[in-house]
Formats: sequence, C-alpha cells, structure tokens
Amino acid sequence: MNLVLNTIGASVDNDMICPLIPDKKEVEIINTSDMKIAHCMGCNQCWLKTPGICAIKDDYESILKKLVQAENLWLASDTRFGFLDYRGKRMMDRIMPMLNMTVGFRDGWMRHEMRYHPLNIGLLYKGDADQAKMEDWCKRTAANIGGHSLGAIPLEKTSETTLNYKLSTINSKPSHLIIINGSPRVAKFSNTDKIIHSFAKGLEETGITWELHNLSNRKEWDATREAILTHERTLIAFPLYVECVPGLMLEFLETLPTERQQPGELSFLLHGGMDEGNEFRLCERFLKGLPTQLGCSYGGTLIHGGSFRIRTAKADIAEKMVAPYVNMGRLFAQKGNFLTPEATKFAGPEQYPWLLRKMVSLLFLKKVNEEFDHFAKEWGCTRPLNDKPYS
Ligand SMILES: Cc1cc2nc3c(=O)[nH]c(=O)nc-3n(C[C@H](O)[C@H](O)[C@H](O)COP(=O)(O)O)c2cc1C
Repeated sequence: MNLVLNTIGASVDNDMICPLIPDKKEVEIINTSDMKIAHCMGCNQCWLKTPGICAIKDDYESILKKLVQAENLWLASDTRFGFLDYRGKRMMDRIMPMLNMTVGFRDGWMRHEMRYHPLNIGLLYKGDADQAKMEDWCKRTAANIGGHSLGAIPLEKTSETTLNYKLSTINSKPSHLIIINGSPRVAKFSNTDKIIHSFAKGLEETGITWELHNLSNRKEWDATREAILTHERTLIAFPLYVECVPGLMLEFLETLPTERQQPGELSFLLHGGMDEGNEFRLCERFLKGLPTQLGCSYGGTLIHGGSFRIRTAKADIAEKMVAPYVNMGRLFAQKGNFLTPEATKFAGPEQYPWLLRKMVSLLFLKKVNEEFDHFAKEWGCTRPLNDKPYS
C-alpha cells in the first residue's frame, strides 16, 4: 500500500499527487495539514518505556497505525532553505516508534533495528529545493527503515536551488558567544546540554563569556531571536534528527529574518546517536547553505557521533563522553570558528571497516543494547524493547 502524507494542505490536491505515484495499486492520501501533530520531543518513551507507542497523544497515532500497514511512504511537503519545511520534517521525526532503540550493523552501516517491516520512502515537494539533497535525504531515511528510496519528485515546475555559502568573514577574536541548544528534548535531560557545558569550559578558560538559549522552551524564542540578531557570533548545537535538523529547530529558523543590520556568523555543533562521520554529511551540506539565507556567514560545523548513551550511561561514563568537547571549546576560542583541521578531524571515521564493525558489534554494541534494556527496566518498562503494539 502507498500511504501519502500531505503536509501542504488544500493547495495540493489528490489529482496532483496521484499521477506521480508510479505504483497505483493502492493509494491512500491523508491530508495532515489540519491534524493536530506536535514535534517529536525526543523523550525516548517509544523506545524505552512503552516500546512502539509514542508518549504524545495527538493525531499522529492514527498515522502510525497506517504506517505499520504501508509498504511505501510518500511525504508531500513544502520547502524552506532548499529542503523540507518544518511541517514535513516534523512528520518524519515522529516516525521513531517504527524503529527499536537497539543498534546493529545493516548493509555495512550502524543502524537501529527495525520494529516492523522495511518502509520505502518518497518525497513529493513544492517550491524551490536542492534536488540532490532531497534525493540523498530520501535514500538515507529509507535505508534507516530498511527500505529504498522512491525518489524526490517536484509537484510543480520549480527552479533548482543550489545554495552558495559565504565562509567566515569576521576576523576579530570572540569575546561573547550566543549558544543555542536546538534539541527539542527539555534541557535537563538533553545530551546537547551536557555537550554545551563541556564545550563552554574550554571557552571560559580563555575568558570568553557565553549565554545559553533553549529551543525546547518556546517562551525563550523571542529572546533567542533578539540575541542572534544583536550579536556577532552564534553557535547552534543540536542533535541529528532523521538525517537532518530537528523539525522544532527548523520551525524556529523559519521565524528568523533573511537579512540583518550588522554582520553575523553562524557556527554549528552537530552530534547524534550513530558513530560514523558519514551519518552527518547531508545535514552538514544543509548547514553550509543556511547562514547566507539568514544574512550571515558560515563558521563551520563541528561533528561528533555516538551521543545516544550520554543519557543512559552512568554519570562518570557520560562525563568521559563529553570531556573531549572542552578542547574543542578552547580551539573555538582561538579561531572563533570551526574551520580548522582539528575540528574536521573530530568527526571520527566516515565508516567502520569490516573487521572493526565485527569487533564493535561483539564487544561494544552488545553491551550498549544491554544497557538500553537495563535503563528501560529502571523506567518501569514491562514489554520487550522490540514489542510490536500495532501489528
Ligand atoms: C526523532 C529522532 C531522530 C533521530 N535521528 C537520528 C539520526 O538520523 N541519526 C543519528 O545518528 N541519531 C539520531 N537520533 C539520536 C539523537 O541525535 C541523539 O540521541 C542525541 O544524543 C540526542 O540529543 P538531545 O538529548 O540533546 O536531544 C535521533 C533521535 C530522535 C529522538
């Protein structure tokens, strides 16, 4: 069955969508634009407390039940910054209950184990977009759910957007840094928060002052916008969500003006659950093109994987995991950006070679998956982590 989630609304009707679906055997189109659907807040309950069931009680549950029956998922989405807009991205961020938290290697890459069957992913998009990025996102997202890409197809004739980027133009050393935690997870439980505090120790050693803003708290958004617009340097630190920026962070970015009165530079600290550097490359390409669209220059992206466990590991181990960021804070303080060989190296290996994959599976992932199990029991989970509540 082909399930189409139309996040655009009435301006795209079924007559526009149907001819674009190659296999017309069975097509169900759901208009999600007037449904109540919140952003994934990364609470992890669908993995560790009520496996397969989302903690947010809104209209997404009915979609999840359909996804379990579907073979092909088509996402119809508007675009922004040459990529999915926040309404489309939000829909995909909520797909997490289709996977298990446990990780292993599939087709040579570290991935979550599937809760149900493989799902193929296609995109129908409206507006200007970077076609190559859209195709890559489809491939990567489908592979994460064991499926293949159905392609990224424009709904109307559009001009292709290749976003140029303007490298750092600010030469002065930083004295004050605005740091934004772009995670939807409340700061108290956010891995990004722990990473930021470790990074900031390095800044503080060199006398740089900093202030923190959390996008998980919408009440802070006005003050955050003001801080970005009135300061020279901003660092946005955030977790990778379904191969790119979390839907909530996209929604915030969409509220920023496209021009500014004074020079501004945006740098990024991007981390995520999977270890391999390759996991972050599509998002990195998206980030390169973002600052120019907000009237800023690009100060580079610091990338590092393997952050799932910061939350589930014991405090001393979590502390060790974030310790390397102190040095990255020191380096940022010297240069004012991440456009340095040391920052590039921080991403680690692009892909584990075959032998290392075997060793990581046997010696490390087995232990990590047991740790998830243990953590789930502490949370009062009474079902197996690979439970299939909707089948
Ligand atoms: C909705 C969602 C999507 C995610 N997608 C990815 C992903 O595509 N690749 C990855 O490596 N990690 C992914 N992660 C893992 C997070 O990046 C990781 O757990 C991170 O440490 C969370 O940081 P936080 O606690 O600050 O939110 C995802 C997590 C969630 C909740």
